[in-house]
Amino acid sequence: MLDFKGKTAVVTGAASGIGLELARIFAEQDMNVVLADIERDALDAAVDEVSAPGVEALGVVTDVGSGKSVAALCEATVARFGSVQVLCNNAGVYTGGLLWEQTEDDYEWLMRVNQWGVIHGLRHFVPQMIEQGDACHIVNTSSMASLCTLPFAGIYHMTKHAVLSLSECLFHELAMTAPQVNVSCLCPELVNTGIATSARNRPAELAEENVTDMQNMSMTAITDATAGSLAPRILAERVLQGIKDNTFYLLPPAGNPWRDTASTRLEDIRLVRNPTFAPPAI
Ligand SMILES: NC(=O)c1ccc[n+]([C@@H]2O[C@H](COP(=O)([O-])OP(=O)(O)OC[C@H]3O[C@@H](n4cnc5c(N)ncnc54)[C@H](O)[C@@H]3O)[C@@H](O)[C@H]2O)c1
Repeated sequence: MLDFKGKTAVVTGAASGIGLELARIFAEQDMNVVLADIERDALDAAVDEVSAPGVEALGVVTDVGSGKSVAALCEATVARFGSVQVLCNNAGVYTGGLLWEQTEDDYEWLMRVNQWGVIHGLRHFVPQMIEQGDACHIVNTSSMASLCTLPFAGIYHMTKHAVLSLSECLFHELAMTAPQVNVSCLCPELVNTGIATSARNRPAELAEENVTDMQNMSMTAITDATAGSLAPRILAERVLQGIKDNTFYLLPPAGNPWRDTASTRLEDIRLVRNPTFAPPAI
């Protein structure tokens, strides 16, 4: 897809971090932009910021963990702009700790936002895009966590592995049935965003309880690791280029330490070797 002007992009998790930067870069292409997020005040501020002469921005408060909410997002988009050409299933949250100490609610929250968020996105938007018949592109935000397995962040890794495999299967299915709809999977390295404070949007019915030392340690680690890391703008540029080039795997450049960690895991599997502990040297 090379012609962005006048087309419509939908971004989930658009009120902060990578999603906000995606909304900005799509607006710079003179696209209509639909910003979807669960955090109302931040969403309103993002819509105000992205709106500009020649750019129509629509904010839709959305919980990506709810099929009804994502269906309403698709309906609101089509009602306002008539069609949708780019969908970024980007909203995601993080928590960490030891797998056997984390609560059912920890699992439920991450699976609901990180996995079901992408599932609801594709179930509601793909039929709309196929019906339109024009060139479209879906970008699912996974993580380099989908290509390796590190301790103390197991639920997050699991959900991001699911996003990658779902995206690969979607790629094959669309290539065979509706090749005008393309797919990319964004696998960022560490990015300086609000992800370490994901719990700000954790639903009350899945509230954190009895936070363990390992959970605290994991949250401190992600706070330290993301602070001062890559600017979200780099990711937005990577996505834009990926859509232009129709690249599926949107990865950090060769030589990035996360690529080495991912290669080690792939090599473990190829050689039927037990998992190597090879965190990125960052
Ligand atoms: N920051 C990183 O280092 C990093 C690395 C790899 C992948 N990612 C992924 O990038 C994506 C964006 O995260 P970010 O780093 O920009 O974090 P962020 O916290 O800055 O932005 C995430 C946005 O998602 C929204 N959100 C949370 N729950 C939601 C829900 N149920 N429905 C709708 N919106 C919801 C939040 O309000 C927030 O605006 C996530 O999928 C994350 O897993 C981030």
